[in-house]
Amino acid sequence: MTERMTTTEIFDGIRFPGFMHTSESLRAACSLQFQDTDILLVTFPKSGTTWMQQILSLIFCEGDLWPIHHLPNWARVPWIEHVSFSSFLSNLNASWPRLFTSHINARGLAPALMKSKARVVYMARNPKDVLVSYYHFHRIAGFLPNPGSFEEFVDEFLEGTGFFGSWFDHVKGWLGLQKDLNLIFITYEELKQEPRPTIQKLSEFLGRTLGPKEVDTILEHCSFSFMSESNMVNYSLLGKEIMDQSQSKFLRKGVVGSWKEHFTPELDKRFNAVYQSEMGDSGLCLPWHMD
Ligand code: A3P
Repeated sequence: MTERMTTTEIFDGIRFPGFMHTSESLRAACSLQFQDTDILLVTFPKSGTTWMQQILSLIFCEGDLWPIHHLPNWARVPWIEHVSFSSFLSNLNASWPRLFTSHINARGLAPALMKSKARVVYMARNPKDVLVSYYHFHRIAGFLPNPGSFEEFVDEFLEGTGFFGSWFDHVKGWLGLQKDLNLIFITYEELKQEPRPTIQKLSEFLGRTLGPKEVDTILEHCSFSFMSESNMVNYSLLGKEIMDQSQSKFLRKGVVGSWKEHFTPELDKRFNAVYQSEMGDSGLCLPWHMD
């Protein structure tokens, strides 16, 4: 697929990297037959997808850490829209529920999801931190264009014309379906600030009761330090042409609020104005401090 490294796939008006997406793979994801026991993690990129993939694997491995040490995240909790999905689907751990990931928006996936009782874990993060993380990711990912200046990148993010579409539409679309789907909303910030109760709340939603020792094991193996060193989740298995981590690491900072080092007061004002007009009357209760 490296010949598609610079190809852009446009699906439902949204740009996807052609490296791992084709129109067929995206269409197949939107018509996937979900089973009632399936668990789908949905995120806008850079919201903590890999972190949650690790947590979901840990919740279901019941103390058997072999998959954590030997299988990459994309094989344990594969993206349903990737061209590689069918090869991972046939090799999923049969004693776990099927764990899937997606970045597709609600409009694309809801019709298929509504035909089942599959559980959805929607994870979101303060968009200013998402934007900064995404900017650095564009610098290292061979399948995404060079981001240009930070100011240009902010404009594209606010217009919603970047890869994977608009953050605002993604969050509003998925959270707008809370009553229609079996969905739990988890934020990067709560996981960071209160990891133990957040993991307990999540596992209860997923139908697993965890003892305190099991939670200890999960906390250890989903920590930023453990994951930074683990080849199974730090993307070091990928060639330099796909991800060049000599400039910036995939697990870059792993903190809340690093946007403050990047935003000028003028950019911040521009961002807040768009945030307010997009989210202000959405009726959603979002936990972020925008200042
Ligand atoms: P930063 O670039 O701000 O460090 P995704 O997996 O959706 O692409 O998100 C990547 C972001 O999640 C990166 O953010 C990465 O460092 C952060 N992340 C991954 N694992 C983490 C962990 N265990 N704790 C905190 N942040 C984590």
